[in-house]
Amino acid sequence: MTVSKKPRHFLTLTDMSPDELRALIARATELKRMHRNGVAHAPLTNKVLGMIFEKSSTRTRVSFEAGMAQLGGAAIFLSPRDTQLGRGEPIEDTARVLSRMVDCIMIRTFDHADVETFAAHSRVPVINGLTDFYHPCQLLADMQTFIELRGDITGKTVTWVGDGNNMCNSYIGAARQFDFHLRIACPEGYDPDPQILAANADRCEIVRDPGKAVDGSNLVVTDTWISMGQEEEKARREKAFAGYRVDREMMNRAAPGALFLHCLPAYRGKEVAEEVIDAPDSVVWDEAENRMHAQKALLEFLLC
Ligand code: CP
Ligand code: NVA
Repeated sequence: MTVSKKPRHFLTLTDMSPDELRALIARATELKRMHRNGVAHAPLTNKVLGMIFEKSSTRTRVSFEAGMAQLGGAAIFLSPRDTQLGRGEPIEDTARVLSRMVDCIMIRTFDHADVETFAAHSRVPVINGLTDFYHPCQLLADMQTFIELRGDITGKTVTWVGDGNNMCNSYIGAARQFDFHLRIACPEGYDPDPQILAANADRCEIVRDPGKAVDGSNLVVTDTWISMGQEEEKARREKAFAGYRVDREMMNRAAPGALFLHCLPAYRGKEVAEEVIDAPDSVVWDEAENRMHAQKALLEFLLC
């Protein structure tokens, strides 16, 4: 079992340097090729990943669990419904206990501060599997997908359309780390975090008109208008975002060869038109698959 005094954590994209991120993505592509060619690679034999899910998940759970199995290790799914976390055991105590038994911990929860608290009390690396504030693992897959299909993203224009949510905040971090220009088209009242935006004002701008924001863009990205935990705001949000659906007319304003990404789950007819998500310039299935390859590279980076 790996016990290090100061483990590396992956809570946001800025926990890795730009060079480390680029190397990780190149490694993810290599691991994908090896997996497809049936090459066995088990550097994590006897290693265990604990996975705490306080919110639902399809991709994150399966990609981490399958990824750990492919690397020779194992993963344990932990839900607050069945653990003492759900009965009020402190996060700090849970971190102390789990990190004496497993080699790495992934957490999906609401408050980003909870992941930071957990990491501060963990002896082993902690991975953010989504908080209300960030979704950095998704950005690894998104960057891998663009780079594999279109080459370097440095200097490119990326447009985020919709809610200034956890994915949008993470795209702002990606704009800094991967050095691209990010236009954010969101309605007033749904901006990304003002501090993150202000700290990255040299690379990011708000463009309220989504059509203008997409003009000449190399990558168009959106996400649900109603993130997990916002279900009660559904009616108000659907009204506020009515002009922000990514449709074919909007995509036609993007640069030739532009790609469409969506972290999924998608709601056709809401944030994205069926004609966009099911078209050839939509690469959302590659993006979803790359969650597994990118996270295998992340696990290797943190544990080997
Ligand atoms: N994109 C993503 O994180 O999907 P899940 O919620 O299914 O894990
Ligand atoms: N913004 C979405 C992403 C889901 C993967 C949410 O937080 O629910």
